Amino acid sequence: MVAGGMRERWQALKPETRQRLRETLYHDMVSEYDARFLAAYLDDLPVTFSQGFRQVLKAWAEDEEAHFQTLHRINQGLFGVSDRDLERRKPNFKPLETLFEDEFSIACLGAYDEWVTVRGYRNNLPLYNHLGAEMRAVLRRLMADEARHYAGFLAVALECREGEARTRQVVARIRQAESGLYHQTFVLDHDDPIYGPELFDQGAANLCRQLISS
Ligand SMILES: [Fe+2]
Ligand SMILES: [Fe+2]
Repeated sequence: MVAGGMRERWQALKPETRQRLRETLYHDMVSEYDARFLAAYLDDLPVTFSQGFRQVLKAWAEDEEAHFQTLHRINQGLFGVSDRDLERRKPNFKPLETLFEDEFSIACLGAYDEWVTVRGYRNNLPLYNHLGAEMRAVLRRLMADEARHYAGFLAVALECREGEARTRQVVARIRQAESGLYHQTFVLDHDDPIYGPELFDQGAANLCRQLISS
């Protein structure tokens, strides 16, 4: 359950703020929930991962599950959510298949996605701030974890030592896949209005810079 202070704050909010918070909290919760689908998809891929990448993925999956549990508790505490809706979620990785070619392309996708996610949480700070100190502490932990995931995926991508041409090709393909359509794949879940082409371009440019200048 959530702390009494958070519930009191919630109840005192204007209806439109409450509505935006409710949508954002639910969106972020299900996005974290979908990490299990990505983990299962990666397990089934015919790609051999390095030991280092497997470690990064294991820690990542545990963190995302903890994020889901935290946001689920808050969603439940504030307005109750149906777990049946969660159980009905089904991923479709088909439209993103080309992004999962090998360890390098998957690590790039993970790094790009986590970088954008950190910005997403950061842009939603003023909204989440309405729920007070407990929520701020949750957000701080989420952002720190997502930033660590970004660093982990980036380190794996760097370890692959791909050349500039392949790097640009892989990153461009990720950027092109930002279609606004989301199929419960965890990655590229960016249909919230806080995201947009400018942020996607920054994410892609940042990744190219990190991989090519190193
Ligand atoms: Fe997360
Ligand atoms: Fe993450």
